Amino acid sequence: MKPVRQLVHEHLLQLHPYTPGTQPGGEGWIKLNTNELPFPPPREVGEAIAAEFPRLARYPNPRSQPLREALAGFYGLAPEQVIVGNGSDDLLNLLVRAFGGAGRRTVDTFPSYSLYPVITAIAAGQIQSIPFGTDFSLPVPELIHSGADLLLLTCPNAPTGVRFPNEALRKLAAGCRGLLVIDEAYAEFAEENALSLLAEFGNVVVTRTFSKAYGLAGLRVGYALASPEVIDFLDRIRDSYNVNRLSQAGALAALGAREVYSGYIATIRETREKIIAVLRELGWPVYPSETNFIFAAPMGPDGHPGPEVASGLFKWLESRRILVRYFPNHPLTAEYLRITIGSPSEMERFIEEIRTWHKGA
Ligand SMILES: Cc1ncc(COP(=O)(O)O)c(C=O)c1O
Repeated sequence: MKPVRQLVHEHLLQLHPYTPGTQPGGEGWIKLNTNELPFPPPREVGEAIAAEFPRLARYPNPRSQPLREALAGFYGLAPEQVIVGNGSDDLLNLLVRAFGGAGRRTVDTFPSYSLYPVITAIAAGQIQSIPFGTDFSLPVPELIHSGADLLLLTCPNAPTGVRFPNEALRKLAAGCRGLLVIDEAYAEFAEENALSLLAEFGNVVVTRTFSKAYGLAGLRVGYALASPEVIDFLDRIRDSYNVNRLSQAGALAALGAREVYSGYIATIRETREKIIAVLRELGWPVYPSETNFIFAAPMGPDGHPGPEVASGLFKWLESRRILVRYFPNHPLTAEYLRITIGSPSEMERFIEEIRTWHKGA
């Protein structure tokens, strides 16, 4: 046999795989690093999953059809405009395989969701990342000028939390000659979303997830909303049973438990604003957030933020069993920490630790 390195596709030899945020073992951690919801799923979700258990010998509905129909009804769209996936990562991957990758111009922004360059590289393509300015506003002319076949935009943005106004998104959709994917993983925490653009522009795709506002990251369910033509191409290339039976049932029940989730989302937003206010009082630059996380630059003892301050606090918090996310590899992000909004009591503890650190711990 030839060496494996000669058998594998050459473009995979240099691939840097995606690094997910740490999922620590053991008890006692405050996990503010992967933008999960800190609350338990509503009772109905557990019951729906338990009811599917005896049917596990049977394959699931291959199209997740009941869930597609429920989502279509929820958003006032046709079922042909909806596809469900194994997390929204699955849909992003399908979009890149169908419309990006080899021979296509794929564009995203920097900073943004760091999965996009990885899935593009897996599809033998190269991504062009257009940096935001330091005010993190959307560089519409540059994005249009890029001539993208596939433009991947996280809105509200991760890791900054900033949402771009629909007016800017409209200009982008109108000027973009390719497909504009608006990754709305965090839209439920925002004041506004981009769904109205679906009726206005045939080239807009919106991806959403049950992992964040629905607190079901462990279930792996996401969906994409787009024109029937785009959805049809994604359907042609997806795995035949891409969402398992338990996940379909759990997500369907979650859609019906809106009141519980409205309460959860209200608590997260309220806590987010309180934490932003406290950190700003301590002098930290913090971006306005429309998500369940904040992007904040810890203030050093000399009255300046900096990469050493951010990395020092990141490590110090880890030693106190508090996990946040740090992106050291770019000057636009290296002074900042991305902090998921946990439960009110977790965030109280977080703020206590931050105050201790400020006193020179
Ligand atoms: C911007 C963005 N899009 C998509 C995802 C992935 O979501 P899912 O769990 O649905 O695959 C994440 C997860 O962190 C994210 O931050």
